Amino acid sequence: MISRKYPSTRLRRLRQSESIIDLTSECAVTKNDLIQPVFVKEGLSDKEPIESMPGIFRFGEDSVLKEIEEINQLGIRAIAIFPVIDPSKKDSKGTEATKRDNFISRVLGSIKSKFPEMLVIADVALDPYTDHGHDGILENDEILNDQTLDVLAEQSLVLAEAGADIIAPSDMMDGRIGVIRKKLDENNFEDKIILSYAAKYNSKFYGPFRDAVNSKNNLGTSDKSSYQMNPANSLEALNEVAMDIEEGADIVMVKPGMPYLDIISKIKEEFKVPTFAYQVSGEYAMIMESVNKGWLDKGVIIESLTSFKRAGADAVLTYFAKDLIKEFNL
Ligand code: PBG
Repeated sequence: MISRKYPSTRLRRLRQSESIIDLTSECAVTKNDLIQPVFVKEGLSDKEPIESMPGIFRFGEDSVLKEIEEINQLGIRAIAIFPVIDPSKKDSKGTEATKRDNFISRVLGSIKSKFPEMLVIADVALDPYTDHGHDGILENDEILNDQTLDVLAEQSLVLAEAGADIIAPSDMMDGRIGVIRKKLDENNFEDKIILSYAAKYNSKFYGPFRDAVNSKNNLGTSDKSSYQMNPANSLEALNEVAMDIEEGADIVMVKPGMPYLDIISKIKEEFKVPTFAYQVSGEYAMIMESVNKGWLDKGVIIESLTSFKRAGADAVLTYFAKDLIKEFNL
C-alpha cells in the first residue's frame, strides 16, 4: 500500500478550482450517454401533458416527428418509444402487438423515414396491449411463460420489420432473449441489436409510467412480482444477465436506476458487457417535482446522471435527456 499520510498527502489540493476538479474527474456525462424515452398515443392530434411526469408529454403520430426533430437537433442519437394504444384494441392476449400495421409500426416507419440516423429502441412486452395490464398472457391468474414467448418473438419481428434498430424486451419472461434472437435470425434480421432489460425489478418507481401509457387501471391491484425481480436480490441479477448474454443479448439493462446502482456496478465488473441503466418515471417525478418546487437545486439532475456513469453504466435512458443538454451544456 502506498502511504497516504497527512500532511504530505492533502487530497484537498486537487479541489482548489473547478479546472483542477474537472481535470481529475474520473467520469463525465456526455450527449453520447443519453437516450430519450418518448410516448406516442394513438388517435391524439397534438400533444398532452402527463400529470405525474411534469414536463413530459404524450405525442400524437404527427406531433412526435416535431419532437424528434428537436431531440435530433440537440444531438441525442437514440430514443426509446412507448405506445399508448386505443383502449378498444386491448384484449387478454395482447393480439394487437403482433399485427403488422399496428400503431407502433406506423410510427416507427414514419420516424425512420424522416430520421434514418436516429437509433430507435422499441419495447417488447405485452402490457400496452393487454386488458389486464400484464406483460404476458394471463390465464387463471397466472402469467404463462412459454405461451408468452411465441407472442414476444412475433412482436419483435413486427417491430424489426417496421424499422426498429434496437429490440428491447422488458417483459422478464424466462427464455425470451433466445426465442427472439432465433426469430430475428431466421428472418434475416441478424444485425438487429437486442437490448435486454435483464435485471428489471418489481418496482413501485414505475407508477408514473403506467399513468403515461394508461396501463395503471388495467393492472389494478395486481402486481408483477411473479416475473419482475425481488428488490432484495443482487446475485439473481447476475444470473439473469448471464442467461440473457448466453441467449444472444448485445446490451443488458438495469432498471430502475438510482436505487440499483450497486447492481450496475456488479454486472459491469463481472461481465464487462455494454450495460445501460433506466432512470425510470418515478425517479424523474421525484426529482423534477422537487426542482420545480424549489426544494432541490436543479444540479441534482446532472448529479444523478453522474452517479450512473460512476457506477459503470455506458448509457442511460432518462426523461431528463433533453433538459440535460439544454441546461448543462453537454
Ligand atoms: C413495460 C415497461 C415498464 C417500464 C418500461 N417498460 C413498466 C412496467 O414494467 O410496469 C417502466 C419505465 C418507467 O417507469 O419509466 N414492460
